[in-house]
Amino acid sequence: MILVTGGAGFIGTHVCIALLDAGLDVVVLDNLSNSNRASLERVEAICGRSVIFRHADIRDEEAICGTLRACGVTAVIHLAGLKAVGQSNAQPVTYYENNVLGTMRLVSAMMRANVKTLVFSSSATVYGVPKYLPLDERHPLDPTNPYGRTKRVIEEILMDLCRSDDSWCIGNLRYFNPVGAHDSGLVGEDPLGVPSNLVPFVAQVAIGRRERLQIWGNDYDTPDGTGIRDYIHVVDLAAGHLSVLRHLGQPGLITINLGTGKGSSVLDVVRTFEKVSGRSIPYEVMERRAGDVAVCLADPAFAKQVLGWTSTRSLEQMCADHWRWQLRNPNGYHCDDLAKAVGR
Ligand code: NAD
Ligand code: WQD
Repeated sequence: MILVTGGAGFIGTHVCIALLDAGLDVVVLDNLSNSNRASLERVEAICGRSVIFRHADIRDEEAICGTLRACGVTAVIHLAGLKAVGQSNAQPVTYYENNVLGTMRLVSAMMRANVKTLVFSSSATVYGVPKYLPLDERHPLDPTNPYGRTKRVIEEILMDLCRSDDSWCIGNLRYFNPVGAHDSGLVGEDPLGVPSNLVPFVAQVAIGRRERLQIWGNDYDTPDGTGIRDYIHVVDLAAGHLSVLRHLGQPGLITINLGTGKGSSVLDVVRTFEKVSGRSIPYEVMERRAGDVAVCLADPAFAKQVLGWTSTRSLEQMCADHWRWQLRNPNGYHCDDLAKAVGR
């Protein structure tokens, strides 16, 4: 039995599907602060299997400990956390409390229940402004915002934990830019309010929920002047979790980038989305967004070497799958109607 914290969220639902499809049993612990219970009903519909759900907070050590023991959990995939960079600048203490304290409570509960296999969702944001590209796992860490610093602190806590006790096996995964959705169109990213990430914003322009995209700068030192990122299909990302779970066995912490190694500019994303959706994406070019870098790109070689994992899905597939999800669920999981979504 695998415990997935944050399993009702965007990446979590796709991780649950990967685990269930591999025949593993899943319990999700989520406080639903950024997700909807309906997402797990969709996961169950896709996989034809049930998921145990605990509506609880990762800062509630007793709830976690009870879940670990009652469900016979053998490993934890820890995705629960707050992730909005802008919000983290405004509410740093909330971010440290939720992400750092939450992880401390989680590992304390794991120690009590003697569950010592953990996969953690870190982020490429820990690297900060690239000193060289592509970013490999040895690149120095210098996150530029409180959200990124919560991830760095958690990585350090987990490293100290492994140094203190050699029965811990920890996979520390640094995600690049996860996008796309399951190809059923039943689960996907459902941001609250105005999306700050590119692909969800573009999709909402395509569906007519927003008038136009604001492109944050076209004067970067890149071929078309717009920012370049390493977008990775969320289904490939989820498969990476299964690979690392199978790999973990040696004591200690292993840090692995999950990216594609391929860069796409904002305009590449706009054009690809227009192609797959058949809709036009009006845009206007604005000033650069504070804190953005020109290029962020993974070196995915280590993941291939140790896990045998590589991404397989193209930017076109990422956009096509995101578009299918958006079309079938114009308001995300709100006004949920599973039968309608499945039947459409
Ligand atoms: P998400 O917000 O969709 O999912 C996170 C889930 O955690 C949500 O369901 C939320 O309700 C839950 N949660 C938050 N705080 C909690 C708490 N205290 N107790 C219990 N549940 C809690 O986000 P996501 O995109 O699926 O991200 C999952 C993880 O991956 C996060 O840790 C995030 O920092 C990390 N990550 C995401 C990205 C990205 O671009 N999406 C990139 C790098 C890393
Ligand atoms: C991508 C590109 C923008 C929106 C963020 C977090 C990072 C990680 C992933 C969690 C950039 C441009 C965007 C828009 C635009 N999350 N853009 N108009 O900034 O690479 O990473 O999400 O760990 O921590 O910082 O992703 O999708 O916001 O931006 O022009 O409306 O799209 O400037 O070049 P980013 P993004």
